[in-house]
Amino acid sequence: MDVKEQQSLLRVISGRAFCIRELMLPTSEDYNRSSTRKRKERDEIYLPQSTFTYNSRHEEDTDKLGRLLAAYLQPGTVFTLDGDLGAGKTRFSQGFARAMGITETVNSPTFTIIKEYEGAELPFYHMDMYRISQEEADELGLDDYFYGAGVTLIEWSSLIEDLLPQDRLAITIDHQDDQTRVFHLTPHGDPYQSWCVQMKENGHLQ
Ligand SMILES: Nc1ncnc2c1ncn2[C@@H]1O[C@H](COP(=O)(O)OP(=O)(O)O)[C@@H](O)[C@H]1O
Ligand SMILES: [Mg+2]
Repeated sequence: MDVKEQQSLLRVISGRAFCIRELMLPTSEDYNRSSTRKRKERDEIYLPQSTFTYNSRHEEDTDKLGRLLAAYLQPGTVFTLDGDLGAGKTRFSQGFARAMGITETVNSPTFTIIKEYEGAELPFYHMDMYRISQEEADELGLDDYFYGAGVTLIEWSSLIEDLLPQDRLAITIDHQDDQTRVFHLTPHGDPYQSWCVQMKENGHLQ
């Protein structure tokens, strides 16, 4: 091989090496992946607690949770209530309604879908979505309630997931045994997050 051939061979080899190096350079996908990882690492450290729990040993404890939450209410407050039949959604609503100063009997609104009550300071809208499709619910103009003057509590909210407001306190009830229930509270946005943090600081939530 003469010098010229050697030089051109070297150019080819170094050209390949360059290509290989280029191939190994991080792509934008790599950057995205690494920033997702960084975000995850950061979130693990800084993300606020996402779910809080409340243990109810008997119905009086469930009433107490209603009173604790009723202390925070403001117009446009939305609570969702999910859990199996008999978990205690309506029972919780009754204690909560009482804590809002409602003296009328609060029953399950399964057949009426929405019942309106006048509380001491705010109206209370009690909903039950068990018997309604999301399409039917869409016709009810629920936003007028969610963003209205009162407080909304929705039983079986998971059935109208797409219609729920972004900010809300999601409550799910786990039926443990005869008397005991575990309430899981997941705040979506503020002020719900601060309410939960405060209740935890006061020793009511875990
Ligand atoms: N710790 C508790 N909290 C709430 N309800 C309880 C508790 N212990 C027993 N119960 C009973 O469980 C039943 C819950 O029924 P209900 O509230 O109608 O359920 P849902 O509305 O979730 O279908 C009621 O009969 C209530 O008396
Ligand atoms: Mg019910």
